[in-house]
Amino acid sequence: MILVTGAAGQLGTAVINQLLTKISAGQIIAMVRSEEKGKSLKAKGIEIRIGDYADKASIEKAVQGITKLLLISGSSDDAFTEHKNVIDSAKDAGVSQIYYTSGARNEDVTESKLGPLTEAYSTTENYIITSGLSYTIFQNGLYAETLPFFIGYDVVNTGISFPAGDGEASFAKREEMGKAIANVLANDGHQNKIYKLTGILSYSFSEIAKLLSEFSGKKVAYQSPEPKDYEIKLKEYGVSEIDVWYSSLLASIIRNDEYNVVSPDLEELLGHRATDLEIYLEDTFIN
Ligand SMILES: NC(=O)c1ccc[n+]([C@@H]2O[C@H](COP(=O)([O-])OP(=O)(O)OC[C@H]3O[C@@H](n4cnc5c(N)ncnc54)[C@H](OP(=O)(O)O)[C@@H]3O)[C@@H](O)[C@H]2O)c1
Repeated sequence: MILVTGAAGQLGTAVINQLLTKISAGQIIAMVRSEEKGKSLKAKGIEIRIGDYADKASIEKAVQGITKLLLISGSSDDAFTEHKNVIDSAKDAGVSQIYYTSGARNEDVTESKLGPLTEAYSTTENYIITSGLSYTIFQNGLYAETLPFFIGYDVVNTGISFPAGDGEASFAKREEMGKAIANVLANDGHQNKIYKLTGILSYSFSEIAKLLSEFSGKKVAYQSPEPKDYEIKLKEYGVSEIDVWYSSLLASIIRNDEYNVVSPDLEELLGHRATDLEIYLEDTFIN
């Protein structure tokens, strides 16, 4: 029996949809934070268990009878303590293998702008590795799907204004990360392995603008404003406080090269080529 946490989220949904193409709904249990969030999963014949990483008692109940557990990382200020609740409960309940979606990290970067979250990724990984449980860790790169959120869909006409400087990052489709994770979950093995689910090339935003110019036949300019000016502009456009914070944070981690990580692991787990960023850009911003 496979328990997928974060099952109502975007990555959890991608994993479950792919799992359903490989195993029956009866072999999957979805952990969600409320009955409401589990409605559509239930409609697919999947058992729902309610659990919150911060509420250990709820997790202890949710993990009963589970053999494989996919822990999709949370992003609260105390993510490590929350993850620890899940790992400890899994161990106590006799789960045979834990799978954790962590974050890719450029090891050459000594000071992370992502701060506590980066720390939660590595602390959780180390806790899992020394827990005695069999494990598989996925160090996920940036989702390509986050790009339109940061630069807008109309960049071919507006140009790109994003304070990422000359930083480079690799991007991969969340849907394909979900498929790779489902491939691993649906089969045995992969014990004590760490996979980097990233693209195979990194790109700067100048390169992204150049590609969009080529594809559209229009000059797409890239400018990297001062972060403070960028935040002021977003607020003037009516962007919410939280989205301003998130966009600025993402720009700063890209500027810092933190997601400049590439690996063939995603393609190997998929068993086919992953969608190149170039194709993603063309499909998303041109067609
Ligand atoms: N690689 C990237 O580009 C990138 C970007 C953003 C985030 N991330 C990380 O990757 C994770 C998965 O991405 P995603 O796109 O699937 O995010 P998402 O759509 O926000 O889904 C996150 C899921 O985790 C659940 N969750 C969060 N805190 C929880 C808690 N305390 N207890 C139980 N469940 C909890 C959420 O539950 P609810 O549905 O109840 O909210 C949601 O279902 C995120 O949580 C974040 O850590 C990665």
